[in-house]
Amino acid sequence: MSGSIGAASSYQAGPSNSPGPGPGFGPWRRTSKLELGPLPSAVTCTRLHAKHIFREWDLAHVADDAELIVSELMTNALTVASPLPDIQPITLSLQAGHEYLMIQVWDALAAAPAPRRHAIDSETGRGLEIVSLLSDRWGFYRPVGGGKVVWAALVTGAARH
Ligand SMILES: Nc1ncnc2c1ncn2[C@@H]1O[C@H](COP(=O)(O)OP(=O)(O)OP(=O)(O)O)[C@@H](O)[C@H]1O
Ligand SMILES: [Mg+2]
Repeated sequence: MSGSIGAASSYQAGPSNSPGPGPGFGPWRRTSKLELGPLPSAVTCTRLHAKHIFREWDLAHVADDAELIVSELMTNALTVASPLPDIQPITLSLQAGHEYLMIQVWDALAAAPAPRRHAIDSETGRGLEIVSLLSDRWGFYRPVGGGKVVWAALVTGAARH
C-alpha cells in the first residue's frame, strides 16, 4: 500500500453493473461467511471474527489492513442498513486464494456507495478513501437477489510488494 490520505481524492469504485467483483481474483481455497443483525455490535463482532480467520488462514501479513477494511465497510453498511424498515442482516464474506484476499460486505440498500470529497480537517468521509488506499482494487455490485455488495481485494501472494 502506498499513498496518503488527502482532501482532493480521485479514487473510483469498480463497475457496478457486473454480477460480482469480476474475473481474475480466484480460485478461492478458503471461504467464510458471517451474517449479523444491523446493530452497533456488528462492527466489533465482524472485526474480531476476521482477525481470527486471517490468523487461521496464515494471512498475518495483511491482517491489519484487512481488518481496517472490514471495519470501514461494515460501519458503512450498518449506517445505511440500520434505518431501513425491513430489518435484514449484513453479510461479511471472506475468500482467500493463492494471490488475493477478497472482502465483501452485503447490505440491503441498493444505493451505491459514494466517495465524497472532504475538507482536509473533516472527520468524516474518509472510510472509502481508506479502503481504496489499503486495497489493491475495490468496487461494488448489485446481486440478483437485491441490495448491494461493496468489495475490496488485497494481494496476499507472491505479487505483494
Ligand atoms: N454501503 C453503503 N451503501 C450506501 N451508501 C454508502 C455505503 N457506504 C458508503 N456510502 C456512501 O458513501 C459516503 C462516503 O462513505 P465513507 O465511508 O467514505 O465516508 P463516511 O462513512 O461518510 O465517513 P467516515 O467513514 O469517515 O466515518 C457515505 O457518506 C455514504 O453516503
Ligand atoms: Mg464510512
